[in-house]
Amino acid sequence: MSEAALALDIRDLRAGYDSYDVLHGMSLHVANGERIGLFGPNGHGKTTLLNAISKVIRPNGGSVSFMGEPIAAVSARGIVERGLIHVPQANRLFPDMEIMETLELAAFTRRARAERKTNLDYVLKLFPRLAERRRQQCKTLSGGERQMLSIGVGLMCAPRMLMLDEPTLGLSPKLKEELAAAIAGIGTRGMPMLIVEQDIAFVLSLVDRMYFVDHGEIAREIHRGSDVDHQEIMDMYFGERAAS
Ligand SMILES: Nc1ncnc2c1ncn2[C@@H]1O[C@H](COP(=O)(O)OP(=O)(O)OP(=O)(O)O)[C@@H](O)[C@H]1O
Ligand SMILES: [Mg+2]
Repeated sequence: MSEAALALDIRDLRAGYDSYDVLHGMSLHVANGERIGLFGPNGHGKTTLLNAISKVIRPNGGSVSFMGEPIAAVSARGIVERGLIHVPQANRLFPDMEIMETLELAAFTRRARAERKTNLDYVLKLFPRLAERRRQQCKTLSGGERQMLSIGVGLMCAPRMLMLDEPTLGLSPKLKEELAAAIAGIGTRGMPMLIVEQDIAFVLSLVDRMYFVDHGEIAREIHRGSDVDHQEIMDMYFGERAAS
């Protein structure tokens, strides 16, 4: 596969916090237009991987390329400007801001400002609940609405690739379905995506391939439609968790 065909190419990435490493040489890639799932036990480095890519933390080694260009030396802001957008696991919304203010403020880069109107229309169509509650303050939103708004904020940044960290955390089955439909809709526009998710059934329905993260390394790659079935994945996941 040529370099240009890859949205994200990560090789031997090492990163961690203070004195200890969490990622011990991670390598993975996302082709242009591809949707990739990332799953694995709690605390094994999934969020750390996204943090290291988006420069919430500084990697200790290895290389990361986005759309064929090395981004190891690029700042967190520069990463957003290039359109590599991280929708974090924890809710980072400003409690007193309204939905519309939040969405409009998110379009802060030059590219995002130019696309603001189109992206806002798209977000409000994708998530009608946000359109209905446009003047509601973030602190009064339900968990599901917050998650929709967080993804909406990501879309307002004019993404060329989205990284979603556990978008369905704490959501009811019905809301998960709504969110899955919205994420699939984003995918049909050809947007490459990296989706961290513990709900295997949810992520399997959305992605082309999955990586299993184990102790800061990619332990396994699973292709959609391969002979690895759902039960086997569950065994791998819970077996690992029971052993750790
Ligand atoms: N800011 C931080 N400072 C120090 N250690 C951290 C920090 N953030 C995470 N860690 C540690 O790094 C390890 C990996 O955490 P990480 O958040 O990447 O796991 P995860 O795979 O996303 O887990 P989960 O599925 O629970 O979200 C854990 O041991 C965690 O305690
Ligand atoms: Mg995490």
